[in-house]
Amino acid sequence: MTNASYPATRLRRTRAHGWSRAMHRETVLTPADLIWPLFVTSGSGVEEPVASLPGVSRWSVDGIAKRAKEAVELGIPCVALFPNTPADMRSDKGDEALNPDNLMCQAIKAVRDACGNDVGILTDVALDPYTSHGQDGLIDDDGYVLNDDTVAVLVDQALNQAQAGADIIAPSDMMDGRVKSIRMALEMNDFPNAQIMAYAAKYASAFYGPFRDAVGSGGLLKGDKKSYQMDPANGDEALREIALDIAEGADSVMVKPGLAYLDVIWRAKEAFGVPVFAYQVSGEYALIEAGAAAGVADREALLMEKLVAFKRAGCSGVLTYHAPLAARVLNG
Ligand code: PBG
Repeated sequence: MTNASYPATRLRRTRAHGWSRAMHRETVLTPADLIWPLFVTSGSGVEEPVASLPGVSRWSVDGIAKRAKEAVELGIPCVALFPNTPADMRSDKGDEALNPDNLMCQAIKAVRDACGNDVGILTDVALDPYTSHGQDGLIDDDGYVLNDDTVAVLVDQALNQAQAGADIIAPSDMMDGRVKSIRMALEMNDFPNAQIMAYAAKYASAFYGPFRDAVGSGGLLKGDKKSYQMDPANGDEALREIALDIAEGADSVMVKPGLAYLDVIWRAKEAFGVPVFAYQVSGEYALIEAGAAAGVADREALLMEKLVAFKRAGCSGVLTYHAPLAARVLNG
């Protein structure tokens, strides 16, 4: 029987069976696409669950080394470290960021000792985990974050991390000109191979709340970060930020948060062809967990659909607190 009105193309043909769907799949996610952010806390043998991030804990340095080994076993190529600095070690100027024996440096060394070069170590450059006011930089009497004074400190913070063995320096502060200054300092101090992953398009977002709890800056923060982080309404401006960071010496760029900014990821990849990473931030993690707990959908299904969307949009990889779960799913 011929059907006079048959469609010229039947896109359902290739979808009919699993083998065919596998064969036609355009985007493939692997554990190598994942970067696992970890929160470091003081002491030894300590695990502190983060209430606003169910399933995520802060670990003392020994526990961080174990998580890094787990990353290697799961095929996750890189961990990102964030310290929870005790309140009494925070100050107006965030000096603890420059202490060569701070939690961050201890964690870098512990991961290196445990894993050698089997895992990359990414470190966040910004002062918010160290300041008593929770802002990412130095502030004036009105609470305004000073750009150039802050950059001078960030350079020293980056060198402190590189000295301890960080592989990828990731400035998340959104000061103007910081990538250039950090790149110059790395070159001049014999770290020519230290990578810079610039948080290039980082938005002033409502999705960062649980992170601020995790690093202990949430309760301290006065005001907001809108004078340096980007307006969520802007896309062209993100491309200008990204262009500058590449010109200043970034090896890769990040868009943050993730899912609400897929258009920015896509445009960045199209415009520059550089490695683009997405940060699926704390609020995104918490919403998946809340959705799963409320019975909206299966946790793993929600997660994997979102992660593949980042890759489809052009990402080289994704920072996600769900990295170990995603890797387990992918490893079967
Ligand atoms: C600090 C920093 C933040 C995040 C990463 N680095 C918070 C902020 O800018 O307030 C957020 C990450 C997350 O929410 O998971 N500069």
